Amino acid sequence: MQEQTTYNYKVVRQFAIMTLVWGIVGMLVGVIIAAQLLWPDLTYGVPWLSYGRLRPLHTNAVIFAFGGSALFATSYYAVQRTCHVRLFAGPLAAFTFWGWQLVILLAAVTLPLGYTSGKEYAELEWPIDILITLVWVSYAIVFFGTVATRKVKHIYVANWFFGGFILTVALLHLVNSAEIPVSMWKSYSAYAGVQDAMVQWWYGHNAVGFFLTAGFLGMMYYFVPKQAGRPVYSYRLSVVHFWALIFTYMWAGPHHLHYTALPDWAQSVGMVFSLILLAPSWGGMINGIMTLSGAWHKLRTDPILKFLITSLSFYGMSTFEGPMMSIKTVNSLSHYTDWTIGHVHSGALGWVAMISIGSLYYMIPRLFGKSEMHSIRLITLHFWVATIGVVLYIAAMWIAGVMQGLMWRAVNPDGTLTYSFVESVKATYPFYAIRLLGGTMFLGGMFIMAYNVWRTVVGAKAVDAPIMRPAAAH
Ligand code: HEM
Ligand code: HEM
Repeated sequence: MQEQTTYNYKVVRQFAIMTLVWGIVGMLVGVIIAAQLLWPDLTYGVPWLSYGRLRPLHTNAVIFAFGGSALFATSYYAVQRTCHVRLFAGPLAAFTFWGWQLVILLAAVTLPLGYTSGKEYAELEWPIDILITLVWVSYAIVFFGTVATRKVKHIYVANWFFGGFILTVALLHLVNSAEIPVSMWKSYSAYAGVQDAMVQWWYGHNAVGFFLTAGFLGMMYYFVPKQAGRPVYSYRLSVVHFWALIFTYMWAGPHHLHYTALPDWAQSVGMVFSLILLAPSWGGMINGIMTLSGAWHKLRTDPILKFLITSLSFYGMSTFEGPMMSIKTVNSLSHYTDWTIGHVHSGALGWVAMISIGSLYYMIPRLFGKSEMHSIRLITLHFWVATIGVVLYIAAMWIAGVMQGLMWRAVNPDGTLTYSFVESVKATYPFYAIRLLGGTMFLGGMFIMAYNVWRTVVGAKAVDAPIMRPAAAH
């Protein structure tokens, strides 16, 4: 029974370290494809290093390998500590770790080889889809089993967000991956035509809403109060935030299909719900930032808080920008341009990556029995390199995107196009160089982190913290 007196930190440690590893790998591939856009012949002649194959490798690696491992690590950490009980079904939790790593390795092999179902963010072929389902069901059993066996009455709000994310991703994966296999590595979608497109973007948008947002909001609700040493600003607002967000996200998908064969009313529904989405998104962001009330001074000296609070500012920015881009007339300018890529990375680097990095810096010393990271100064350095990197990346893409949109629609008095397409590509080159610089800086920050983590954990003893009940802080 000794086991039951400690938290299961082993699986958290494994996922935490792999978050860092996959972050570096995924962002390195991001830097390579950014360089390919500048120098198209960079990997000339090698099909599996071509842009078309590396791009989905990048998106899968950063979203599912880096983001996914961060979500597993933080949800397993937070759910045990807030429920005051050891993680449910330890062996199954271990299976989720090894199963998820296997999914990632299979993705890393099949995508460069060109095996793909062709659906963005759901490219992996059917045998891997089945493995994902098995891992995800196990994840749900471990997570909800822990909640069900909790030793405190209340279910803390972070667990609602993590739980909502786990359930919704299960639903999205099952519906969008319905496919008919024709061989071991080829399948066709069960849906056709515009229905297929709608199912895909119902999936795609909710992948953003739940994989890249709800779970990370769970992180926010656990790690921001912890690091700030303050309770959540408004617990009541956090409950409203949860229900409003999960209800609204579900309907916004059609904004990815403006001016397509999708019926016009469905596009308008998507636009309206996207505009409504601004309210819960900002409610949540304000709740997170205001948690610092009375502790603002900590922001000056604590680089972990800097990461967490800056990530919330980027969250606020991208969830303001998203609703704007979903307005049809705005989308007619932004769609197909690098503006979308700027929006994506203000969310992905600014929000998702930065909150994960902050949470990792909080957890890692605790998982290895240390009181703090090896070097606080290196965390500060990481913060500034990363922040300047994101700003360079997204500012370059915004300018490039608006420029492209305006060049494509410019017409001469006689009705002919003012610019050929290739002229707009040429005009974009300087911005691709700036993006490459910003991305390289962000990746550089990850290497600084890797060094700091290595110095923190080397020679340290892996520890499982004792469970203290009932009055212990969680
Ligand atoms: C060093 C950091 C990174 C660099 C240099 C980078 C670079 C790139 C590049 C060059 C593209 C292709 C753009 C295009 O097709 O025009 C891309 C796409 C994408 N990246 Fe990144 N990326 C980085 C980090 C991340 C992270 C951390 C995430 C997610 C957590 C992410 C998510 C995505 C997504 C979702 C797309 C596809 C966007 C779309 O289809 O509209 N990236 N990235
Ligand atoms: C209120 C919240 C948000 C709304 C309403 C929203 C809306 C939009 C819109 C209108 C587009 C462009 C669709 C197109 O023209 O094809 C888009 C693209 C995208 N957004 Fe957001 N966004 C929001 C927040 C976020 C956040 C926080 C992230 C990342 C963490 C994110 C990630 C993405 C990605 C990856 C795409 C590119 C999808 C693709 O075409 O591959 N969004 N979003």
